[in-house]
Amino acid sequence: MASLLHIDTSIKGPQSVSRRLTARAADRWRAVHPDGEVHYRDFAADPVPHLDGDGLAAMLPPSTHTPAQAEVYARSLALIDEIKQADTVLLGLPLYNFGAPSTVKAWVDHLIVPGVSFDPESGQGLLGDTELVVLAARGGGYGPGTPRAGWDHAEAWLPHGLSLTGLVPRFITAELTMADDNPAMADLRPLAAQSLADAEAAIDALWTPATVGA
Ligand SMILES: Cc1cc2nc3c(=O)[nH]c(=O)nc-3n(C[C@H](O)[C@H](O)[C@H](O)COP(=O)(O)O)c2cc1C
Repeated sequence: MASLLHIDTSIKGPQSVSRRLTARAADRWRAVHPDGEVHYRDFAADPVPHLDGDGLAAMLPPSTHTPAQAEVYARSLALIDEIKQADTVLLGLPLYNFGAPSTVKAWVDHLIVPGVSFDPESGQGLLGDTELVVLAARGGGYGPGTPRAGWDHAEAWLPHGLSLTGLVPRFITAELTMADDNPAMADLRPLAAQSLADAEAAIDALWTPATVGA
């Protein structure tokens, strides 16, 4: 049975653009996988704990773990297993202070475990069979030639952060999401509307019965 892991991370609840996009993508996925199962996580409501000193357990033989290290290690294994069980992961990615939400960083930190998410001998990532679609939202504009081109370190970082695992994110991004609420961005509202429409069209084209072999 096909399986989807849907993760939201925005702190903005129903006002969130990335939540709107992940919901649309999940609906799209369900339409082409009517018998599929969907698992949902909300890192804003229920975040993965940040790694602390016991997180070094990932680098140590499990037989040497203290009880506290074993607990962190077990959490990492469970999060990695969730990805291995999924055919597709949808991740909402808001831009906060030019980077990813710290909850996404905490999740990625848990996914890097030698021998589990990658083979330390060959360097082969072990999660590459899972499709990762990232639905990103950012308040400003970061396109080529704009004053802050290159300042979106969330999209720049995520492929690198996950690179050991073999997960390769595909980004669909809506930008200028603050234009509607910010009078100083009023001139940018048509561009914001176009960016959202483009993102929604890209989501609607993500899966078709032909691409999933139905
Ligand atoms: C804490 C916080 C920090 C933000 N920092 C930035 C930023 O650095 N650059 C930017 O373009 N927008 C920034 N924004 C605006 C968000 O990127 C924008 O609201 C986007 O739509 C977030 O995704 P969401 O709607 O799914 O929450 C920030 C918003 C919040 C709440």
